[in-house]
Amino acid sequence: MQYTTLGRTGLNVSVAGLGCGGFSRLGLGTGQSAEHAAGIIRQALDLGVNLIDTAAAYGTEAVVGAALRDVARDSVVVCTKASRQPGDTTFSADKVIASLDASLQRLGLDYVDVFQLHAVPPTAYDQVREVIAPALLRERDKGKFRFLGITETAPNDPEQHMLNRAMRDDMWDTAMVAFHLMNQIARTQVFPHTLANRIGTLIMFAVRGIFARPVQLAATMRELAAAGDVPAWLAETDDPLEFLVHPDGASSLTDAAYRYVRHEPGADVVLFGTGDAAHLRTNVASILKPPLPAADRAKLQELFSHLRGVGLEAPPARAR
Ligand SMILES: NC(=O)c1ccc[n+]([C@@H]2O[C@H](COP(=O)([O-])OP(=O)(O)OC[C@H]3O[C@@H](n4cnc5c(N)ncnc54)[C@H](OP(=O)(O)O)[C@@H]3O)[C@@H](O)[C@H]2O)c1
Repeated sequence: MQYTTLGRTGLNVSVAGLGCGGFSRLGLGTGQSAEHAAGIIRQALDLGVNLIDTAAAYGTEAVVGAALRDVARDSVVVCTKASRQPGDTTFSADKVIASLDASLQRLGLDYVDVFQLHAVPPTAYDQVREVIAPALLRERDKGKFRFLGITETAPNDPEQHMLNRAMRDDMWDTAMVAFHLMNQIARTQVFPHTLANRIGTLIMFAVRGIFARPVQLAATMRELAAAGDVPAWLAETDDPLEFLVHPDGASSLTDAAYRYVRHEPGADVVLFGTGDAAHLRTNVASILKPPLPAADRAKLQELFSHLRGVGLEAPPARAR
């Protein structure tokens, strides 16, 4: 494993972080058992992963807690989140604090390392900054968590307006940012600010649905080509990104996707979400490999850096 410093938190974290949400939810999202999910966590820890990201909304906190029961508390960085309640347009300080308390109980922990506000839309940000964050910092001072983070709602904020604002404020220690090889906007909207203010970044969506499902990628390319957003040749094949796979480059599309994100300046931890033990091993291996060849990176920038909102689709409500 390789380790890095998570911005101003000073935490020493693995560059590969286990995401417990997304489509897989450690396998719970695809019908696997809690034992299987706990096994995925233990396998990640065995490979040197020391950062685990979960959320009240994912239904995976109890499994995380069970898997960590015999693990030294200071050897793992546990991140969780609180969301708005369904139907609420703003966050409520009371509900967020109740969610934090319930998360601690499900995790069986006295504190979490990073507590994040989950999927904050641009319209909620003023209230989050002025009301919710100050209330949470008082909970931090009681010892319930160490660092405060914020995560974006990528499908609803493809231009990253919320993070572009938030990363200029001084209360956020970490940010969770959507970034992938066809969604490169964070390079201009977010990373310059996180780097300047030493805000730690957790990168989500490296693969998501679009690079996990060849049919979805090919269909997306056809739509983009029809709209004139990518060259026509990308729509004329079922494997439009095969140019990335060659002896000096990536070994597969998912290998390319994780390596692309890992070496982006400003990316600290690459989250990977899986319920599959074989995927876990190959994903960690990919994240530890060198950057893609410069020519391939340049081609991805030329082809896709202007795109907005591609490959950000959300899974069912609980897994965002
Ligand atoms: N707003 C937010 O705060 C927010 C929103 C979304 C996500 N997140 C966090 O970010 C984490 C990462 O996002 P994500 O879960 O979408 O992760 P991801 O790593 O971008 O994509 C995971 C998807 O790709 C598949 N996959 C993974 N490795 C694969 C491989 N080697 N070959 C083929 N398919 C593969 C997974 O299915 P398998 O199970 O089959 O491997 C899963 O469907 C989440 O788990 C969550 O912790 C936060």
